[in-house]
Amino acid sequence: MWPIVIAFLLVFCDLAAAITFDILQDISPNALMNTMRDNKEQLNSIKFNIDASLNTVQMIRKAGYPAEAHVVQTQDGYLLTLHRIPSNKYQPVLLQHGLLCSSADWVIAGKDKGLAFILADQGYDVWLGNIRGNTYSRAHVSLSPSDSRFWNFSFHEMGIYDLPAMISYITNITSHPLHTYIGHSMGTTSFYIMAVEHPEIARMVQMMISLAPAVFVNHMKSPIRYFSRFVQKLEIITHFFGKNEFLPHSDMLDYLSKYGCEIFNIEKEICANVIFLICGFDKEQFNYTLLPVILNHDPAGASAKTLVHFSQEIESGKFRQYDYGRKNNLLIYNATEPPDYNLGSITVPIAIFYGDNDWLASNVDVKKLYHLLPNILDMYRVPKFNHLDFIWGKDAPKLVYKRLLEIMKI
Ligand SMILES: *[C@@H]1O[C@H](CO)[C@@H](O)[C@H](O)[C@H]1NC(C)=O
Ligand SMILES: *[C@@H]1O[C@H](CO)[C@@H](O)[C@H](O)[C@H]1NC(C)=O
Ligand SMILES: *[C@@H]1O[C@H](CO)[C@@H](O)[C@H](O)[C@H]1NC(C)=O
Ligand SMILES: *[C@@H]1O[C@H](CO)[C@@H](O)[C@H](O)[C@H]1NC(C)=O
Repeated sequence: MWPIVIAFLLVFCDLAAAITFDILQDISPNALMNTMRDNKEQLNSIKFNIDASLNTVQMIRKAGYPAEAHVVQTQDGYLLTLHRIPSNKYQPVLLQHGLLCSSADWVIAGKDKGLAFILADQGYDVWLGNIRGNTYSRAHVSLSPSDSRFWNFSFHEMGIYDLPAMISYITNITSHPLHTYIGHSMGTTSFYIMAVEHPEIARMVQMMISLAPAVFVNHMKSPIRYFSRFVQKLEIITHFFGKNEFLPHSDMLDYLSKYGCEIFNIEKEICANVIFLICGFDKEQFNYTLLPVILNHDPAGASAKTLVHFSQEIESGKFRQYDYGRKNNLLIYNATEPPDYNLGSITVPIAIFYGDNDWLASNVDVKKLYHLLPNILDMYRVPKFNHLDFIWGKDAPKLVYKRLLEIMKI
């Protein structure tokens, strides 16, 4: 366990490798546990402002826009919430958030800054998806989130069930094809899976925009690559991150906030949030005013299996289905290795935006994706951007959304 924690800390805080070994030897597990306990009390005392507790619909209304919530049922019984800023002027667009996030992330930055509002100002009918298991989609016709069967999914199921349910619902209600699907991070992963496995649904989508696509991930710099090595030892994942829902123990985060953040002068709240730990943090682009709201909304929930599936891809370097082990793979896939998703079969026109400084979607991995996709509209590298700057970065409207709107008018 300690090496994993230290690795998280190290990569997050850019600590020199030489210091690691000292830390490893100097800190006994007991001393560590005590520190964690002390820290927990401090964290619990942080107070957030009232605005931070608004949900997506309330945030949209507060910004002066109409808002709706729709519930969609997937073929396997999950009940997902779609949020909407309705408009009759143009066709619908669907925005899909990434890992541990929710529809709130597209509106947190506020009017004139959040992508949902910018699209609404252009007259688009804006729909915001919520993937199974997140804050707004923790319901099922027969399973409760306390049942481990509820959490038996990864981004594969999001691609084959959630997106088809959302897209058919939107196109049916509006009687229009989807003008554009915009995905961030895992919101792109699930789209690519949907487009491969359900081409009949992909045909309802006229264009797709990938922000920081997470498809090939074996060159990522993010600390999560350190626990990918332990993926075979499920009990480790279970112990630290929860067997069903991905619940990073606050003890671990408390520890990081103590040792990582104080030394390196990174705000405790940022250091203690798993979102920033996984995706990286960018002082230059980050708007601190948004922090209380972000902390209130993220992490928004994910299954441990999703994290394991990502870890498998980090190890294999492939974009393929979940690996159940040789024996079970034979039963499930009739092959010892899980099958690859055939990206070459995707016909939807796609534009890709990726960040120069992205820990998760590295330039090498994004280029690999680019070469496999047959129908590319645009490929744009955003200077200095990290993984989260695409949704909250101060300069996202100027550096990303402006170009994105132009592509949508093609
Ligand atoms: C989880 O889902 C997979 C694939 O759908 C299935 O093969 C497996 O039996 C399920 N496991 C549990 C514990 O429900
Ligand atoms: C489409 O909408 C109609 C009317 O609201 C409904 O009866 C039908 O079941 C919907 N079909 C799908 C595939 O959602
Ligand atoms: C399983 O794979 C073998 C070898 O690739 C093939 O001959 C066989 O037809 C497959 N069985 C099924 C049920 O698909
Ligand atoms: C930071 O966020 C606040 C609150 O949404 C907003 O008023 C302000 O304009 C933002 N600052 C920048 C530089 O984007």
